Amino acid sequence: MKNKILVTGGAGYIGTHTCIALHQAGYDIVIYDNLSNSSREAVNRVSTLIDQPIEFIEGDIRDSESLRKVFAAHQFFGVIHFAGLKAVGESVAKPLMYYNNNVSGTISLLEVMAEYEVKNFIFSSSATVYGDPETLPIDENSKRSCTNPYGQSKLVVEHILEDLAVSDKHWNLITLRYFNPVGAHASGQIGEDPNDIPNNLMPYISQVAVGKLFKLSIFGNDYPTVDGTGVRDYIHVTDLAQGHVAALNYLEQQDSSEKNSSVGFLPINLGTGKGSSVLELVTAFTDVTGQNIPYQFADRRAGDIASCYSSATKAKTLLGWEAKLSITDMCADTWHWQSTNPNGYE
Ligand code: NAD
Ligand code: UFG
Repeated sequence: MKNKILVTGGAGYIGTHTCIALHQAGYDIVIYDNLSNSSREAVNRVSTLIDQPIEFIEGDIRDSESLRKVFAAHQFFGVIHFAGLKAVGESVAKPLMYYNNNVSGTISLLEVMAEYEVKNFIFSSSATVYGDPETLPIDENSKRSCTNPYGQSKLVVEHILEDLAVSDKHWNLITLRYFNPVGAHASGQIGEDPNDIPNNLMPYISQVAVGKLFKLSIFGNDYPTVDGTGVRDYIHVTDLAQGHVAALNYLEQQDSSEKNSSVGFLPINLGTGKGSSVLELVTAFTDVTGQNIPYQFADRRAGDIASCYSSATKAKTLLGWEAKLSITDMCADTWHWQSTNPNGYE
């Protein structure tokens, strides 16, 4: 029998791409999402791409009763937990909303999982938990610290998962720390669809390219980096999706191994291990798409760090996963999605 996976937040940017990868890898999926930052259309498109209907439940992870109905109706092998709010600036303005959604929501999900004895869990964490890193590349043992409520909400959940692993050896809690996810599915049918003016670099660049925004502001050109602009580890969302399949495979291997040893709390970086500057990304986008990106230098953005890129060794050693797609692929696929869907899923 194929293993069935509950995907919370599966209608969102990373969730939709992961659902396709899971289906291709032979998993059955059920999506649970309150559509607070996504749409039915995204789910419909996933369904079209995999050429079969998807079981979609509109619900909130804080609604325990609704979750219980889902767990009672399905026998899940595990949960991939994408559901969460992710805008750093909004989290500073509305901290209670972020802690309630991201922390209380995760607790309510874990409680229902425990009730139904489902103890395989993959959590969407973020490189933001490393704060301003002391050394590069950043490995999983680096010190963690956060400066905004969004990052804190991820860190608090990580601590909860650590405590949970200590309390009960049956939990298998993989925490995937994503670096900077960009790009879109090669079909151009699904991609990132920000509600408002994008906060993140790649969607901003692509909206300038498509003519929705006038000019990119580059936040700081005096960082101690290759060209003075901020350096990040951009990772193609399709590679990231495959990282989740690899994590699930790992949990299945542990589950079926004779020792049946528990994974406990297991943090793993998902990045490429390589950094690119803002100017390098802008240049790559122009080279790949032929679109000119007007830009101006502006002040540094509050809370930004100079450089952030991963050590990708643990994912490779433990999960046998590594990122394959290049910055060129990331730019080409972003542009394919943006140019064929200038207004996203609207
Ligand atoms: P997204 O907003 O596109 O997807 C999140 C999904 O969760 C949305 O479909 C939203 O409707 C749903 N959701 C939010 N709160 C919910 C709730 N209470 N109940 C049910 N559904 C809820 O975001 P994404 O970029 O796909 O990110 C997925 C996860 O990865 C998030 O937890 C995010 O914090 C984390 N992450 C994202 C990035 C990034 O740059 N995109 C980086 C690191 C970590
Ligand atoms: N940048 C600009 N102009 C813009 C937007 C961004 O110059 O309009 C610069 C930033 O200063 C930074 C780089 O582009 O140097 C990347 O910025 P993003 O906002 O795309 O990404 P961040 O690294 O700041 O943060 C993102 C998510 C966080 C997440 C983190 C790690 O927003 O939530 O990646 O995964 F935690």
